Amino acid sequence: MITSNELRQKYLDFFASKGHKIIPSASLIPENDPTVLFNTAGMQPLIPYLLGQTHPEGTRLADVQKCVRTVDIDEVGDNSHLTFFEMLGNWSLGDYFKKEAIEWSWEFLTSPQWLGLDEKKLSATVFGGDKRFPDIPKDDESADIWKSVGMPKDNVAYMPGGVLESEDNWWGPAGLTGPCGSSSEMFFWQGASDVPPVGSNPATDNDNWLEIWNDVFMQYNKKNNQTFELLNKKNVDTGMGFDRTLRALNGFADIFQIDTLWPLIQKIEEISGREYIENSEVTKSMRIIADHLRTATMVMGDDRKIAPSNVDQGYIVRRMIRRAVRHGKILGIKENFCDKIGAEVIKIFSDVYPEVARNREFIMNEMAKEESKFRNTIEQGLKEFQKLMDGFRIAFEKTGKNVKQISGKQAFKLYDTYGFPLEMTLELANENGLSVDVDSFQEAFKAHQELSRVGAEQKFKGGLADTGEMSVKYHTATHLLNAALRKVLGNHVEQRGSNITAERLRFDFSHPEKLTAEQKAEVERLVNMSIEKNYPVTFAEMTVAEAKAKGAMGLFEDKYGNKVKVYSVGDPEVMPDAHENTLAFSKEICGGPHVDNTGVLGKFRIKKEESVSSGVRRIKAILE
Ligand code: SER
Repeated sequence: MITSNELRQKYLDFFASKGHKIIPSASLIPENDPTVLFNTAGMQPLIPYLLGQTHPEGTRLADVQKCVRTVDIDEVGDNSHLTFFEMLGNWSLGDYFKKEAIEWSWEFLTSPQWLGLDEKKLSATVFGGDKRFPDIPKDDESADIWKSVGMPKDNVAYMPGGVLESEDNWWGPAGLTGPCGSSSEMFFWQGASDVPPVGSNPATDNDNWLEIWNDVFMQYNKKNNQTFELLNKKNVDTGMGFDRTLRALNGFADIFQIDTLWPLIQKIEEISGREYIENSEVTKSMRIIADHLRTATMVMGDDRKIAPSNVDQGYIVRRMIRRAVRHGKILGIKENFCDKIGAEVIKIFSDVYPEVARNREFIMNEMAKEESKFRNTIEQGLKEFQKLMDGFRIAFEKTGKNVKQISGKQAFKLYDTYGFPLEMTLELANENGLSVDVDSFQEAFKAHQELSRVGAEQKFKGGLADTGEMSVKYHTATHLLNAALRKVLGNHVEQRGSNITAERLRFDFSHPEKLTAEQKAEVERLVNMSIEKNYPVTFAEMTVAEAKAKGAMGLFEDKYGNKVKVYSVGDPEVMPDAHENTLAFSKEICGGPHVDNTGVLGKFRIKKEESVSSGVRRIKAILE
């Protein structure tokens, strides 16, 4: 039996004994990196140093880093997947390389003074080359080092790597570009037999070997898909999946038995009066609750104080809490319970991550608020969902037509009126053998709120969508463009789509033909005129009917709930009209956010005007 505190301490003590400085975990929220929502690996906060900046603590560092990954969120509930996890890591910033990294990994894993694992139960893989990149050689050096330290030679396997895909012994970059390199992964035997059969390794038996640690030999900087340039310094980045290693070392059948999760399961048992092992449905719901509320607590407990919301990290928190509430209902929990689980999470982690204890009050308040808010509508939402099911059934009985899909409009209503995150509707649909028209949901959703969850998810995947200052500017510029197009081309112009990054806006609209050079120039002139006028941008909440009466534009208005937000550029009491010398320039139903005054936008320029489909044109424009 080894506890979480013991494992963390051993790891840090070991690397301190090898001259490493112990650094604290960075925030879960990456700084100055708009490409990801969370730190997903220990190396992420260290990227500037891996790229060559000097670190104040020197060239050998070790730490325990908090991480969140939501890519496998749908798998949570089985016996291994988690959304929050910790990662142990040691770094060489241009200091030691393969030899020391592998020797120390081996010593830490096998020495009786440290983990004392059976050598025969360990295996390693090394980079086997990627045919597309003949200049990056297969890693004979690491294979030789493994054999020299005492790893049984059959337990060392080459894996053909996916340099572009970051697969099989190639790691990184974390975003689209950046530091990366070949890696050597270490595995622990999980098979039924006491020791693995001779010749068994992760290349021949994928299922019974559990990856526990990854030594990355970071010597390239990925510039693009063709170019991998050698870094000035060779670095080492290692990452040990803390939770799964803790599970493996203790021989637990499932990961929820580790001591940073088990007290949560016990608390859920106590609150619900159910037993973890009662049946698979109960087990699954308890696991989802434990995982999700642990993640939500850790994100909210960061000093960035992320509250549940509809954007970015806040959306992930919201999604986690709401999903936990739904699974609480499955267990029959009728009262607010999330903050009680949150309190346990704080207890577990306050010594390791003091910020969680510091932010206790914030976490408890926000969690309770979010749960109450959702509880107020979830019953009605579930009824609404049941009505949909009944409708499908009745239609089937009457007409024989078997509807298998929830429309985007129906899913959007569940989201907008009852607060069901799309993922929850998808889950419910799946449980009922249905699918959801996600594309049309997203259309409705984007219209509702440009800077949306969709953007957030893209970011999480490592795309470059950005909800920072530039995106907000482009969002306002999109309203100006929309208004200018109507003034120049006529009132048939309607928004068909909008996509914003930190670099440009893209706007699709209905219009039958190519714009003439004069029309484009006139649109640009009007937008720039409205920027020069430094109009205030304000919003008011009103019903759809009022919004229409006030001359607001908005394509998807009938999909909105009762009240909508109307953004005005210029005097909100004045109807924007066809003339340029008015007090108001644009009025649109929209979720925001926007800049406060148009004057901050800079100079607007159309880069491209093209056809998207019949009757729909697309403009790409930039602010300079
Ligand atoms: N960056 C590597 C990983 O996340 C090692 O830390 O696996």
